[in-house]
Amino acid sequence: MRIRRRHVWLLAACLTAACLGGLAPIAAAENNGLATTPPMGWNDWYSVFCGVNAPLVEQTAQAMVNNGMKAAGYDYVNIDDCWMAPSRDSSGNLVADPTRFPDGIKAVADYVHGLGLKLGLYEDAGTTTCAHLPGSYGHEAQDAALFASWGVDYVKYDRCNIPFGDFPGQRQQQVEQTLFARMSAALGASGRAMVFSAVAPDPGDDPWAWSGPIANLWRTTSDIQDNFGAMLVNFDGTVDLSADARPGAWNDPDMLQIGNGGSSPLEYRTEFSLWAEMAAPLIASTNLSTLSPAALRIYENSSVIAVDQDPLGAQGVPIARAGGRWVLTKPLQNGDRSVVLFNSTNTATRIATTATAVGLPPAHAYRLQDLWSNAVTETGGLLSAFVPAHAVVMYRVSVAHRPTALSPQVVLSLAPAAPQLDLGQSTVVRETFENDGVSMVKGLKLTFRVAPGWGLKRLGPARAKRVAPGRRFTCAFRITAPLAGSAVALAPVSGGAIYDPPAQDLRRTSAIVSERVFAVVPGPFEVANTTSYAATFGARDGGFAISARGAGVLQPIAAAPTDSYGAIYERQRAAPSSTAQVTVTYDPAGGKAGGAGLIEREAMTAPAGSPAGVALFINGSGSIVMSWNASGGRYVDSRFAVQNVIVHVPVMLRLVRSGSTYTGYYSTNQGVTWLLVDTVTVASAASAGNQDVGVFHASGLSTWTTTATFTDLLLQ
Ligand code: GLA
Repeated sequence: MRIRRRHVWLLAACLTAACLGGLAPIAAAENNGLATTPPMGWNDWYSVFCGVNAPLVEQTAQAMVNNGMKAAGYDYVNIDDCWMAPSRDSSGNLVADPTRFPDGIKAVADYVHGLGLKLGLYEDAGTTTCAHLPGSYGHEAQDAALFASWGVDYVKYDRCNIPFGDFPGQRQQQVEQTLFARMSAALGASGRAMVFSAVAPDPGDDPWAWSGPIANLWRTTSDIQDNFGAMLVNFDGTVDLSADARPGAWNDPDMLQIGNGGSSPLEYRTEFSLWAEMAAPLIASTNLSTLSPAALRIYENSSVIAVDQDPLGAQGVPIARAGGRWVLTKPLQNGDRSVVLFNSTNTATRIATTATAVGLPPAHAYRLQDLWSNAVTETGGLLSAFVPAHAVVMYRVSVAHRPTALSPQVVLSLAPAAPQLDLGQSTVVRETFENDGVSMVKGLKLTFRVAPGWGLKRLGPARAKRVAPGRRFTCAFRITAPLAGSAVALAPVSGGAIYDPPAQDLRRTSAIVSERVFAVVPGPFEVANTTSYAATFGARDGGFAISARGAGVLQPIAAAPTDSYGAIYERQRAAPSSTAQVTVTYDPAGGKAGGAGLIEREAMTAPAGSPAGVALFINGSGSIVMSWNASGGRYVDSRFAVQNVIVHVPVMLRLVRSGSTYTGYYSTNQGVTWLLVDTVTVASAASAGNQDVGVFHASGLSTWTTTATFTDLLLQ
């Protein structure tokens, strides 16, 4: 706690003019003088996991020179777990795996150094690493000296397999603190300066509270995955820790996934922008030899890299987050601000703030540089954008000291009164053109389009002769969804604006929003929403769709149980001897507790008063999980996840009930073969009679609504 308060004070000190000018000394971090800006580089883990070898590392280093990454600032080439042989030599020294690193680590370090790059190496504070190879426990000084002799420049130090029994009465966090400090000191005494990267992100470890004095960076969250939900979890776990970051000591939300194929180009751009705004290490963990030009362009966006690497070293802070619409601001050394407008929701939306709200002084006008489109415009103070789902708009904002000839900043946005409709329903969409600049926009014409089969009626004029600075022009349209369709559908609604700003040719801008259309759930099905947020349900022709957010059916670690979900179910349909089966066709959930699958319990609408329940589902990481109530309390309290299996949708799930015992199965080949998940016994209270049964979904995060879809529900 004491450490935390000191950090807050440091930040306060840093907001003084002297510090913003780069003059004030920043308090000591790990005093090795390294990582004065967040480390940049590459790490093999997420491309090959335990398959690392010398040719891969050397070819990657060469690729970083050839593809421009070295020139862009990426200088660490980091070897993760699995580089070492299964045992130490007769002197107790670590040995590189003789097959994969036949010439040893020093030869690789020499090669990498020869290219003007630096070498990183992984080790672990326990007796073995996470991959069960020799750890540094009891060998810290020896290993640090060996790393120094090999020419290692960076050590990533993990926390697997620590012999906690050697530290009776101490908490995990205390033991980790002792062991990480021990290795930090050993590296310091080795005679070679090495960046020290701490990996101790388990719940309760809170490394941000103790790693600053001993490490250059520390992991804040569990291992990232290449999907938007997992990225969001790691962003969420890091975004409020700005007080703990400073030059030489950084929060590390884990490595960049850009290029690994599990996210969209926009989502990768989001990841890169958010990491830069949080002054996070930029370590690409992907195969650089197969990287697409588009992914490389993200890694090499010099304007975004400059935000990450800004010498002031302040982590951006969130100043808004309501409804998943985030605004972050990061002070930069020259007085500019980097501003990220991040839409974590699944629907395009307008996000706005002001120049003074992000920390700039009052002024007549500001220069706005869009760091992804590179457009430079001028605003009178409003910083606004219409941001696609899962995307960011990132601006570098500075005071415009004298009149400029820049185009006025304009934003076109679409706001449907109801972003989700039932088939045949109508809603009004407002299309708004705003002139955020300080000069007049003339000759504005708005256009509007809907998907085939939809009805469209304009409700007012679509043209304006002039839109004065700071003014808006809105035209409303009524749209009507078709009468027929599937359980859920996404229909694009797009708008366009043609206008003529001063000193510019005719300009166009456009906006797209997706309407979600749900078919009303027919009887005998009913719906249940036990989250504290709105949920939406659709069902048609054997297909089901559930849109819901919230924690899900697992007990969160170190928090009160929530047991919340949206469900489409049949009341009292599961007899003591019965089977439920469904195919999950889409599950975009992100949080570990989020997921989509089957659920049975006494009263679907009242989990807290409905003692025994069981759920079988696929979670956001692609694991098959069963969770159930074993203790008879009010909530689902136990869980089992199939280990080392990641499945992709569509996946079939089958839950077989026999009294109070349930057996779960899954199939990834359309039911040709079924694999056992687990057999569990729920608390006896509900074992006697029939239960409610159906499909459920929860996003796993309170800030994110996701839609899961299902087909072929079978209840018998
Ligand atoms: C842990 C770390 C990962 C990676 C693996 C290696 O899971 O969090 O980043 O280093 O260990 O085994």
